[in-house]
Amino acid sequence: MSRSSRIAVRVPGRSYDVLVERGSLARLGEEVREVSPARLCALVTDENVDALLGLAAEASLHAAGFEPVTVSVPAGEASKSWATAGRLVEEFSEAGLGRDSLVIALGGGVVGDVAGFAAAAYLRGVPVVQVPTTLLAQADSAIGGKTGVDLPRGKNLAGAFWQPLLVLSDPDVLASLPEREWFSGLAEVVKSAALDGEAAFAALEADAPALRAREAEATGRAVLMAAALKARVVSGDEREAADRECLNYGHTLAHAIERELGYGTVTHGAAVADGLRFAARLAVEVASADPAWADRQEALLDALGLTPIDDVRDPAALLAAMKSDKKARRGVVRFVLSSAPGSWVVAPVDDAVVAAALTRWCETTTGGDS
Ligand SMILES: NC(=O)c1ccc[n+]([C@@H]2O[C@H](COP(=O)([O-])OP(=O)(O)OC[C@H]3O[C@@H](n4cnc5c(N)ncnc54)[C@H](O)[C@@H]3O)[C@@H](O)[C@H]2O)c1
Repeated sequence: MSRSSRIAVRVPGRSYDVLVERGSLARLGEEVREVSPARLCALVTDENVDALLGLAAEASLHAAGFEPVTVSVPAGEASKSWATAGRLVEEFSEAGLGRDSLVIALGGGVVGDVAGFAAAAYLRGVPVVQVPTTLLAQADSAIGGKTGVDLPRGKNLAGAFWQPLLVLSDPDVLASLPEREWFSGLAEVVKSAALDGEAAFAALEADAPALRAREAEATGRAVLMAAALKARVVSGDEREAADRECLNYGHTLAHAIERELGYGTVTHGAAVADGLRFAARLAVEVASADPAWADRQEALLDALGLTPIDDVRDPAALLAAMKSDKKARRGVVRFVLSSAPGSWVVAPVDDAVVAAALTRWCETTTGGDS
C-alpha cells in the first residue's frame, strides 16, 4: 500500500475521513487534534487491547494536549450489552465529560459498537473517533456509523446511527490478532472484493499468498480496499436502503449457520466464507451466473485458508433460521446474488429452491452423512 490513504465518507450533512496508514496509531493524538479541539476524552477499550495498545494511544493523546481517561471493558461479545453501555455513560459522567469532550473507541467491533452507542446517548451525543484494531473492524464495522448493543433476545437489537469524526486504522496493529479473529475479518475482505469489481478481486487473488502469511503490506492493501468499498456504499445511504443491502452478501446463510451451530461455536468469518460459497452457487442456479465465477471465489477462499465448516447438517433448521432473520421480508428469504466481480442483485428466492440448494449443500459439506 502507499504510505497513507484517506478515504472520504459523505453522509447527509457532513463528511469524515477514514485514514488507513501503517504505524498511524503513534500519531493518534495529532490526527484527532485535526478534527477536535477537545481537552478531556474517554479512551474506551477492552482489556486485551488495553494491554497491547493502551499506553501507546494514551501517550500520543497526551502529546497532542488531550487528557485521556481510559475505560476498559472485558473483551468479548458479552460486553456489547445495555449494562456495559450504562457503565460507560456513568464513567463519562464521573470523569466530567461535557459536550465539548470526545469519546475514542480503541478496539474491535464490540468496543466500536458499544462505545459509539454510549457516545450517541451521553448528553444526547458527544463526538466519537473510531480506532479499529481488528481486521473486521478496520475493513467494515468502524465505518458507516452503526452503533449498538445486543439484547437477550438477539444481536444488535438496540442501537443508534452515530457517525464518527474520524476513523483511524493502523493495519500494523493487526499483527497481534489471534488467528480466529484474523479469519473472521478476512471473509469480509473477500466479500468486499467480490462486490467491488474485477480489479479489486484480481488484486486480492494476487495477494493471497502474502495474506496467508499475514504480511503487513498486503494486509494494508486489503484493509484499504475493503474500507474504500464500505465508505463508498455507506456514503449518502446512512440508513441502509437499497445499496447498503449488498453488504449482506454471504450473510444470509452465515447468520443461519451461526444460529444453527450456536453463536460463538464458529467464527462469524467462517460462517461468512461458507455463505459466500453458497450464495455464489445459488446465483448459478437462479441468476444465470457463470459457474466459473463461483469456482473462482471458492479458489480464493481456499487460498486464503478459509476452509469450509464441515458440521452443517440440518437444511430445514437453516431455512427456518433464514426465514426468521430480520433481513427476510414477510418470511421471504432474500439473497445477494453475485454473477461476476462487481455485479450483484438482491433478490427473493423461493423456499423450495433454497431448501433444495441447502440439502445439496449439507450433503457436500458433511460427505452425505446427515
Ligand atoms: N457496526 C457495524 O456496522 C458492524 C458491522 C459488522 C460487525 N459488527 C459487530 O462487530 C462485532 C465483532 O467485532 P470483532 O470481530 O472485531 O470482535 P471483538 O471486538 O470482540 O474483537 C475480537 C477479539 O480480538 C481482540 N483484539 C482486538 N484487537 C486486537 C489486536 N490488535 N490484537 C490482539 N487482539 C485484539 C479483542 O480483545 C477480542 O478478544 C460484533 O458484535 C458485530 O455485531 C458491527
